[in-house]
Amino acid sequence: MSIDSTWLRCPNCFQPLESVDERVLGCDTGHRFDLTKHGTVTLLPPRAPSLTGDSREMLEARAELLQSGVYEPIARALEDGAAANLHLEGSAPRIVDLACGTGYYSGRLSARFDGANLLLVDRSPTAVRMARRGNPHATGVVLDLWRPLPIRDAVADLSINVFAPRNPDEFARITREGGLLAVVVPTDRHLAELRSSGAMLDIPSGKAEQVTTQLSSAGFDPVTSTTLDYVAELDEAQCAALVGMGPAAHHVRPSDLAAAPSPGVGPGAGITAVTVSVDVLLFRRR
Ligand SMILES: C[S@@+](CC[C@H](N)C(=O)[O-])C[C@H]1O[C@@H](n2cnc3c(N)ncnc32)[C@H](O)[C@@H]1O
Repeated sequence: MSIDSTWLRCPNCFQPLESVDERVLGCDTGHRFDLTKHGTVTLLPPRAPSLTGDSREMLEARAELLQSGVYEPIARALEDGAAANLHLEGSAPRIVDLACGTGYYSGRLSARFDGANLLLVDRSPTAVRMARRGNPHATGVVLDLWRPLPIRDAVADLSINVFAPRNPDEFARITREGGLLAVVVPTDRHLAELRSSGAMLDIPSGKAEQVTTQLSSAGFDPVTSTTLDYVAELDEAQCAALVGMGPAAHHVRPSDLAAAPSPGVGPGAGITAVTVSVDVLLFRRR
């Protein structure tokens, strides 16, 4: 079975989920959940909103952009922060990617932490499938981060939440005492050149402070806070991928970007200097 049920609880009654047979998970109350043919499972509570997270097009744009290495410094900062601060007692870490998208960052962590046990979760079934493609031994669950999570108490040594919705109280519940939570949020300078062209939505300032306050109230102590601020020179396809993979993709077609004024730089036509500016925040569960 591709699912490690020791991570999971029932989304209806919160009892532990166990495997009933090769293709079904269940709890003692009698709730049952079928595995998909891809080896993932959907654990949504009753009356979950019908929103389905990122579309296949957005995920493909994200995969293309991440493959090009533009966000590699973010992945490195996550890895280094976790490696320096995660105190394990011998065994390989249990890592949760909260809104995994394509699984880029959790893939990097699993390469860094030998034998890591991964839980990949997202509201988008396509995202969970894509993320598991790169991490075939991981447990993949479709869930809604806004609701009580179908994840057991204190099971995570390390969780990551990158450019994604947050549920501070639930993140605290699933993280063991002394475990880590890494959060990446954009600053108001992030992708400013693309935003000023009107192709993307604005980012309010003070996100890192707001997240730190919320997570502190929920039971996390700040450990480190690193601002990454660099300029990436991107071609048109990469700019289109950046627009296509973000929330603005719900409002703007990537092809619209071609019509938007862009501050081209350097000798190569179609190259745009774009600011990448994010805060990488690391917290420890009290
Ligand atoms: C901006 S993407 C970030 C993905 C990934 N962390 C990364 O940085 O590559 C946001 C992700 O959150 C997921 N998402 C949006 N709403 C969600 C929800 N309510 N519950 C779980 N995932 C959600 C989307 O499907 C998408 O994969």
